[in-house]
Amino acid sequence: MTVNAMSILISTNNTAYLESGDVIKLPVIFIHGFPFDKRMWENQLLELKDEYRCIAYDVRGHGDSKAGEVDFSIALFAEDLIALMDALQIEKAVIVGLSMGGYIAMNAIQKYSHRFAGLVLCDTQCAADTAEAKGKRKKTIAFILRNGLAVYAEESLKNLFALASFQTKPQEVSFIHNTILHTPATTICRTLQALADRKETCKVLPQVNFPVLILVGAEDKITSPEVAQKMQELISGSELAIIPEAGHLSNLENPIQFNLKLKDFLKKFEQLS
Ligand code: MLT
Repeated sequence: MTVNAMSILISTNNTAYLESGDVIKLPVIFIHGFPFDKRMWENQLLELKDEYRCIAYDVRGHGDSKAGEVDFSIALFAEDLIALMDALQIEKAVIVGLSMGGYIAMNAIQKYSHRFAGLVLCDTQCAADTAEAKGKRKKTIAFILRNGLAVYAEESLKNLFALASFQTKPQEVSFIHNTILHTPATTICRTLQALADRKETCKVLPQVNFPVLILVGAEDKITSPEVAQKMQELISGSELAIIPEAGHLSNLENPIQFNLKLKDFLKKFEQLS
């Protein structure tokens, strides 16, 4: 069995997703970071397909999912996640979110914690943007509106990848570069605004009552291992693993270590069932 590309009309929008594995198995739903799309999880979908039902979807406006007219917000993206689960008749899933994907998952916990079997937070944080970060996003929006995406894409890469990955993972770097360049500038600007406006979700973490794994690239410059450790301290019983030789895109930069930790964590659910 391989990875299938699908799309489904959910109450709010048309959502594109990739699926692998058997529908009767434990669902694992992957949410990509910004400004990427579902394809960043292809390696994990292939790796896990024999044991789990894996779904990686495009957040609205990204990849092949429709943007719609409503203002983007992380809360809206969280509603989209639940609407997708409803449409696919998934009552509970292990949710895996990288960076913005983690923001979406942690936002969803506030209203929908009963829809989580477990959670994997990758290279993400529960804090909201500081005033300085909000100001930076505002400037980036203005810059993109004036100049387009080329310089923005080039500059983003420097923060996303560990320095060594530019030598050791050129295909991954070029994949992400192309993904950014092919994301509509309107989606990027609307999502930057949503990221700047997002509320903190740290206060919900002490209430989490399902298994949580936190993964972070050792050289993540955007959401550092220290930030990951703070989240771990807020979630009792959670595990933290630092992925060596990886920056902010730990699943792409070190898939072997990333998959090892992820698979180990998912084994818990076999023991629970
Ligand atoms: C991401 O990878 O999703 C972004 O770095 C999130 C952000 O800009 O806060």
